[in-house]
Amino acid sequence: MKKKVIQILTEHGTLVQPDAIKYILSQKNPMVYVQSLINKSGEYPLILTVDDLKNMEENRQSKVILMSEANEYTRSCRRQFRSIEVKHEPETNLAETKPDVNIISDVSGNSTCEGNVNDFAKYFRNRYESIKKLLKNRREMVGITPINRIRQTDAQIKIIGIVKETSVTKKGHRLIEIEDETGAISALIPNNSLLISEPVVTDEVIGIVGRLSSKSGLVNVESIVRPEIMMRREINRAKIPLCAAFVSDIHVGSKTFLSDAWEKFVEWLKSDEASNIKYIVIPGDAVDGIGVYPDQEDELLISDIFKQYEELGRLLSEIPENIQIILSPGNHDAVRQAEPQPAFPENIRKLFGSNVLFVGNPCYFTLNGVEILLYHGRSMDDFVTTIPSMTYNTPIPMMKEMLRRRHLAPIYGGRTPIAPEHKDYLVIDRVPDIFVTGHVHSAGVEVYRDVTLINASAWQSQTSYQRTQGFVPDPGKVPVVNLQTLETKIMKFA
Ligand SMILES: [Fe+2]
Repeated sequence: MKKKVIQILTEHGTLVQPDAIKYILSQKNPMVYVQSLINKSGEYPLILTVDDLKNMEENRQSKVILMSEANEYTRSCRRQFRSIEVKHEPETNLAETKPDVNIISDVSGNSTCEGNVNDFAKYFRNRYESIKKLLKNRREMVGITPINRIRQTDAQIKIIGIVKETSVTKKGHRLIEIEDETGAISALIPNNSLLISEPVVTDEVIGIVGRLSSKSGLVNVESIVRPEIMMRREINRAKIPLCAAFVSDIHVGSKTFLSDAWEKFVEWLKSDEASNIKYIVIPGDAVDGIGVYPDQEDELLISDIFKQYEELGRLLSEIPENIQIILSPGNHDAVRQAEPQPAFPENIRKLFGSNVLFVGNPCYFTLNGVEILLYHGRSMDDFVTTIPSMTYNTPIPMMKEMLRRRHLAPIYGGRTPIAPEHKDYLVIDRVPDIFVTGHVHSAGVEVYRDVTLINASAWQSQTSYQRTQGFVPDPGKVPVVNLQTLETKIMKFA
């Protein structure tokens, strides 16, 4: 039993003090107890003490979710496979239920940056510190050495730094120049290493485990450590079976806007079948904008940006008003292009009904307690151009790379402009229940480590610009998530 408990916690990245092991083994059912600890979300201490356990118990008891019975354990395991039995509450009229939206993190109204050199220094310092904190929770990164304290030794060294540059030598070895707050050093991945194809991108914060070569003065890389997200956690769920529909990249104003498909969608929203849809989440590119790509004006049906938003306002006003709409900007929209993007300004907001809530890009919020991370997805342009295995038609692997790095736009200086806020809003400092993006006009749903990943399609057929870029959209699809079960289906309207 003791061995099993230690193994489970170790696999979870947590070391345990002997007293804490004793405490766990003294529980009525130690395996259930330990599993309930793991299922509970949150950051775990590197070394688990009895005090930590007691604190966790207290927290949990206050939320009345202490799982101490075997049947609860069984249920929590079943949750992992989305097969929880749902208690329907027939007396609840879903259409009349008030929306329950809580914004957790959004740059809107909180912007600090003026764009001077100092702001950039603060921004990158915050990015480094935020991700370093997450990396330090990893078991593999116990005992890190600041770069300026690295001395000649045969022992393994561990460093956390921001990637300054990567290159390939004539012999096919990879060089990674990494810097922390104390200095910089180059690390080498030999051409015969299994790590040779591991995508390391500039400006991401990584951990490197390796040994210093006395000959070359380089760190020979033995492993690369990413902050990652936990394998398992407890997922937040709505108490009633309300649904959210994810509808990205509407591109109103474009000649290629799929108005017939949109009308079908709105008709469906009015039908009984859609009576449990309480939310529509729109992660950006609500209109086509103007001057976004070369010769765009030839493809515009509405060439005035305000008229595009007026038309969007009209289209959204046809949606039943008991549905709460959450609208964020994307790179086609009329807000600053640099991310994080704030919510639409008042002169645009006034064109919409009272059931539209405006948020920034990215934004963390909850819908009936279910936590959503919304990001338009512009950084996918940089993933596609930097990592050979990434393509526009497969956004889900790029979303996983973001989660592994705990950053929405790790590559700086590419196609994703970044505003140097003093806090890096692009750091994934919370693990959401649902992570939604748009931008690449694909429809995809997958569960990664208990996070439901959604790419929310588009309402625009292929533009001539997309044709020249070899970009094939998958429009007119709507991923719908039941917020009580987190079951997802994709509705097709095109
Ligand atoms: Fe788009």
